[in-house]
Amino acid sequence: MDTDEIKNLPVHVAIIMDGNGRWARQRNLPRVEGHLVGMESVRDVVTTTRKLNIPYLTLYAFSKENWTRPKEEVKRLLEILEIYLERELPLMMENGIRLNILGDIRDFPKRIQRKLQETMEKTKRNKDMWLNIALSYSARKEILQAAKTLAEDYRRGSIKRINERVFERYLWTSGMPDPDLLIRTSGEMRISNFLLWQIAYTELYVTEILWPDFRKEAYMEALKEYSRRDRRFGRVKEA
Ligand code: FPP
Repeated sequence: MDTDEIKNLPVHVAIIMDGNGRWARQRNLPRVEGHLVGMESVRDVVTTTRKLNIPYLTLYAFSKENWTRPKEEVKRLLEILEIYLERELPLMMENGIRLNILGDIRDFPKRIQRKLQETMEKTKRNKDMWLNIALSYSARKEILQAAKTLAEDYRRGSIKRINERVFERYLWTSGMPDPDLLIRTSGEMRISNFLLWQIAYTELYVTEILWPDFRKEAYMEALKEYSRRDRRFGRVKEA
């Protein structure tokens, strides 16, 4: 793969996959078709991430708020998730990809919970790349549950001090580096309750491309743009 132009690749890429509905509407297709084609973009981006040796990829697939979508769409999204897990397991095994879920999987029907657990279990010894999929995810909820558990541990005396490093251990991304790059497709300039703690210094990249059209070339473009950014983490530039 031609990565000559990309001098510094990110270690952790996070993506808000948006625009499936609009993609389908533009073609007079039902929304679910957008999600189905979006699943192909997921495959493309996962494979590319692995080929580039980027060790962490986090995808926002279903937010806590998405449960309020029409029942039929939610049902179809759950079916797509099941198809995805079934279909992509061989790819994860062949490529050393470990699946991790960010979010509350207890919100899902029992059968899907089992499938998610099973896939995490089967892939847990894979060491080349973490694939985080955010499901029934809410960053505020993540922060709140972290604060609650931390408060209990503090009261019991199992932790002595509270600081950022300790707090991070209670997040669903525990032990992982923060995202270097957050990509959002379909042009919306919002964070939508995604990784609010973790993106403090993350570079943002928004593209008009709708998620079902976001393939390797568009991804490489985002990575190139990232490599040109001057990250200062609040410091001044060295003379
Ligand atoms: C946002 O588009 C997309 C979603 C809510 C679902 C994302 C799902 C996939 C990409 C397919 C499956 C992926 C996995 C990992 C199983 P939207 O429906 O909000 O689009 P709109 O804003 O144009 O209506």
